[in-house]
Amino acid sequence: MFVKIEGTGSFLPERVVDNFEIATKVDTSDEWIQTRTGVKTRHIAGEKDTVASMATEAARRAVRDAGISPEEIDMIIVSTVSAEQTLPCVACEVQKALDARSASAFDVNSACSGFITGYQIAAGQMKAGLIRTALVIGSECLSENVDWTDRGTCILFGDGAGATILRADCRPEEIQIPAVLHADGSKGHVLTCSVGHGKDKVPFADYYQMDGREIFKFAVKKVPEVIGEILEKSGQEVDEIDYFILHQANRRIIESIAKRLHQDESKFPMNIMDNGNISSACIPMLLDQLRREGRLEPGTKLVIAGFGAGLTWGGFYLEW
Ligand code: UT7
Repeated sequence: MFVKIEGTGSFLPERVVDNFEIATKVDTSDEWIQTRTGVKTRHIAGEKDTVASMATEAARRAVRDAGISPEEIDMIIVSTVSAEQTLPCVACEVQKALDARSASAFDVNSACSGFITGYQIAAGQMKAGLIRTALVIGSECLSENVDWTDRGTCILFGDGAGATILRADCRPEEIQIPAVLHADGSKGHVLTCSVGHGKDKVPFADYYQMDGREIFKFAVKKVPEVIGEILEKSGQEVDEIDYFILHQANRRIIESIAKRLHQDESKFPMNIMDNGNISSACIPMLLDQLRREGRLEPGTKLVIAGFGAGLTWGGFYLEW
């Protein structure tokens, strides 16, 4: 009685940048980055990779995995904070590339909570009986907006895309959406970027400026709280959950959340080591990886949660 993920796909640019290469640009070391963040490598977009091209490739793989035709898609939602252009939106570019003629299309920007937001919008539309099949994508080219002289941010981020095909396994009125979304705009200043919006009109630089410590504190406090809310809404106990799929911001954040929830770290799959933080793409990419590894079986219980700039945070419960 849930809105299920019936297909997944992901795309990573070819070029891999390891910590040693980063250490040739800024005063840091492989040891510091691995110990403080968990990141070993990240993929960086090549000249031909754009937010739309990566989203499209991930989407093609998800459509294939779900065994559907693009014409069956009713809605395309792309979460991104790094689109090269404001108009047209990335989702419309994906719609064109897939020839998904029946689909509406729009982008959402709630940063690293973007996939969570997209899922909840699509699920709500399904429960209202307005759509049957949705394609929800997270796609990011963060390297474009990184200040490569700032060791506080350039060590963290990477590029890539993850896509999911969503469908309900029941009639619209029976759909359950055990989900929550939150925002605190008063803390928006802790992660900013003015790309594409006329930098002289807004007080932010045209690259990511981040108060890492503040976001760290926010995440380790708010994510366990939001997981508690999701568990209450779904009627599940924390010990019953098979996997907690969290936004991949920092390995230490995830370890700290596992500790606070008294759960074994093996229940918190991670891809931050290989990919770094790819904002809204992290979660759908991780789902795709787990699916390909055969770790998601019918009935597997998941709590999926994101957090990031805005500030925004939230999540949902899902049985695979
Ligand atoms: O996706 C959502 C958005 N982002 C996040 O979630 C990021 C969350 N925050 C973080 O991941 C961490 O705060 C960072 C990885 C960004 C920083 O790690 P930290 O353990 O919080 O370091 P810090 O900022 O407290 O800095 C500790 C020390 C400082 O030196 P002093 O003042 O103690 O001498 C920094 O200057 O580490 C220094 N430092 C570095 N040293 C080597 C900061 N960055 C680096 C670096 N290499 N890359």
